[in-house]
Amino acid sequence: MIITDVYADGYKNLSGVNISLDPNMNILCGENAQGKTNLIEAVWLCSGCRSFRSTRDKDFIGFDRDFTDVRIDFEDSLRTQSIRFAVKKNAVKDKSVTLNGVKLPLLSSLFGQLNCIAFTPADLELSKGSPDNRRSFIDLSIAQIKPSYVNALNTYNNILSQRNALLKSMQNMLKNNCPDTSMLEIWDGQLAAAGAYISLLRYTYCNNLNKYTKELYYNITDGKEKLLLYYLSTIFNEISENSDYKTDLYELYLSKLKKSINDDIKAGFTTSGVHRDDVITEINGLLTRNFGSQGQARSVALAMKIAHAQILAKESGETPVMLLDDVLSELDSKRQKFILNNIRDMQVLITCCDDKFISGLTGGKVFSVREGRISDL
Ligand SMILES: Nc1ncnc2c1ncn2[C@@H]1O[C@H](COP(=O)(O)OP(=O)(O)O)[C@@H](O)[C@H]1O
Ligand SMILES: [Mg+2]
Repeated sequence: MIITDVYADGYKNLSGVNISLDPNMNILCGENAQGKTNLIEAVWLCSGCRSFRSTRDKDFIGFDRDFTDVRIDFEDSLRTQSIRFAVKKNAVKDKSVTLNGVKLPLLSSLFGQLNCIAFTPADLELSKGSPDNRRSFIDLSIAQIKPSYVNALNTYNNILSQRNALLKSMQNMLKNNCPDTSMLEIWDGQLAAAGAYISLLRYTYCNNLNKYTKELYYNITDGKEKLLLYYLSTIFNEISENSDYKTDLYELYLSKLKKSINDDIKAGFTTSGVHRDDVITEINGLLTRNFGSQGQARSVALAMKIAHAQILAKESGETPVMLLDDVLSELDSKRQKFILNNIRDMQVLITCCDDKFISGLTGGKVFSVREGRISDL
């Protein structure tokens, strides 16, 4: 997948941006607070993902502007497409999102059209941070390969919040009498059905991810360290990729929910399920999260992100666009080279503050970003 042109006006501080990209390497160079991340973020939003800085729609619009207008033209092996989103200051709720001129209801409706992978300094915490970071990472990764997965996640989360609300009210009742658990059964069946499906997909994805990360990590460490990555379920001891999520896994999931009912009522929420699972990494048999050095943790995160890009390229038949925001400046030169070598066949947008970085690169385009304006260097 290749972005050919980016147009952005009134997106935060960006003004009259109209650039044609190189099919491989694009470097956005500029001092701090000039609009580099804003451009990366505008592109990311066009991939149908939420802003990685959790910006609200009304904050898209430049402080002294009346509207935001972003357009991206891109091509895959089959066709050329165009995404556009526009927000007016006096009608923020009435955002206009179009794909090839056809109106879509939400920015998230664009998901699955323009596949991007964003990599920011926060992602370097992936292996050390809390499990929800890793769950989000694999969920987004699976959804990019199989967009319908998002529906299963939404279903699960809806049922989970209903079940939790019921558990909370039962927890309060517990003080006076023994609560009637039959109401929970309505939710348990549905939760187990969605949860079993999610577990199987995540498990299968992590198995695949492990194959790629193992090799990447071996190469980053010149064969000195061995990485193992696996999915840790709070429901299943082991999942076989051939399991049937509608029968075997469903039954096991349901029985685990039933077994945990008393704990759940006492806690006032659902104590086990895919919302509490994790992705574990071990280096030479030791948990990265507890024992990994910062350098090791970063290398694991790099391997996970690059592996995801490689899997997505293989599964979808299209290479994703890599958005690297400030990530290279955080890494030593060996790891910088490693990233650049392993994403060589993809289109890349990189931000950086330092011209010295550019001198090491051959080919591609360099842009200068200044006060929200972007020009070819
Ligand atoms: N809604 C907005 N309107 C105008 N400027 C904004 C808005 N939101 C953020 N900014 C400005 O954008 C700049 C930060 O841009 P950013 O892309 O993060 O910079 P960098 O080049 O360091 O990545 C800041 O100067 C900030 O004040
Ligand atoms: Mg920035």
